[in-house]
Amino acid sequence: MEERDKPVKVSVVGAGKMGEAIIAGLLSSGAYKPGDLKAYDISPLRRRYISETYGVECPETVDEALEDAEIVFVAVKPKDMASALSAISPHLRPETVVVSIAAGVPISYVEEHLPENTQVVRVMPNLACRVREGMLVYTPSTRVKSENLDKTVRVLGLLGRTVRLGEEYLNLATGLVGSGPAYIYLVIDALADAGVRMGLPKDLALTLAAQTTLGAAKMVLETGEHPAKLKDMVATPGGTTVEGLLELEERAVRAAFISAVSKAAEKAGRLKTR
Ligand SMILES: NC(=O)c1ccc[n+]([C@@H]2O[C@H](COP(=O)([O-])OP(=O)(O)OC[C@H]3O[C@@H](n4cnc5c(N)ncnc54)[C@H](OP(=O)(O)O)[C@@H]3O)[C@@H](O)[C@H]2O)c1
Repeated sequence: MEERDKPVKVSVVGAGKMGEAIIAGLLSSGAYKPGDLKAYDISPLRRRYISETYGVECPETVDEALEDAEIVFVAVKPKDMASALSAISPHLRPETVVVSIAAGVPISYVEEHLPENTQVVRVMPNLACRVREGMLVYTPSTRVKSENLDKTVRVLGLLGRTVRLGEEYLNLATGLVGSGPAYIYLVIDALADAGVRMGLPKDLALTLAAQTTLGAAKMVLETGEHPAKLKDMVATPGGTTVEGLLELEERAVRAAFISAVSKAAEKAGRLKTR
């Protein structure tokens, strides 16, 4: 979003881990000031935390939180979607776009709980929205007007990289994009533990591991090279890296990651909405 553009008024319903990541990401983008956002959470403690931490208005009732909203992010657990949607439903204006980030909850389910013709965009983001390096996969419902979709994607783009996919890929996105940071945190923690084993303090080992992970990811994105080619550039013939790679292959780490993402994606399809 360009500086001269007036920020699209955003409300976040469900200010837990992801709701907070969205609020923090939008504020740190510089395009949003606290007054451009509102949040609502069922928990008074959470409301107080968000308003004290970010200066964002967190009213006691959902209708006050939706006043002026052009985009409403619904960021509650799948099991709480029905009650959250029913609570926001009477307060939506026809032009308001509802963005659902709930894992495994189809657009049709969201639409069933909202007024006819509500414009819904289903998004699978991840926690890195907080530092504006999120990956956000989205599917708009057929009812979303193109100018509203543009507006929504501009806001999502402030939180990271956006990719539009058909809804049939949203559960896969849950396994890869939504859950993915947890797998990478496990890798970073394990690399750091290796540093600790060799005598480094954990905080220093974590810096080494995290920056190495960041740099490797950036190389893939910025050079456009296949990761296998980049791997070969690191692995000198007869050198140290290939010894490490052999260890990972013998322990089937690659298969374990493929399986982890597949299992998480399958689970997304089985999540209970009630
Ligand atoms: N965490 C992630 O990394 C991640 C990534 C991608 C997508 N998601 C999706 O994001 C959604 C939120 O996940 P989360 O991890 O942020 O969960 P969370 O930390 O539990 O946050 C949800 C918040 O919503 C509140 N809430 C429950 N019912 C509500 C209602 N009717 N109205 C307003 N607030 C309500 C909860 O309060 P109580 O705790 O008091 O119930 C809680 O504070 C989920 O659908 C998840 O699938 C999460």
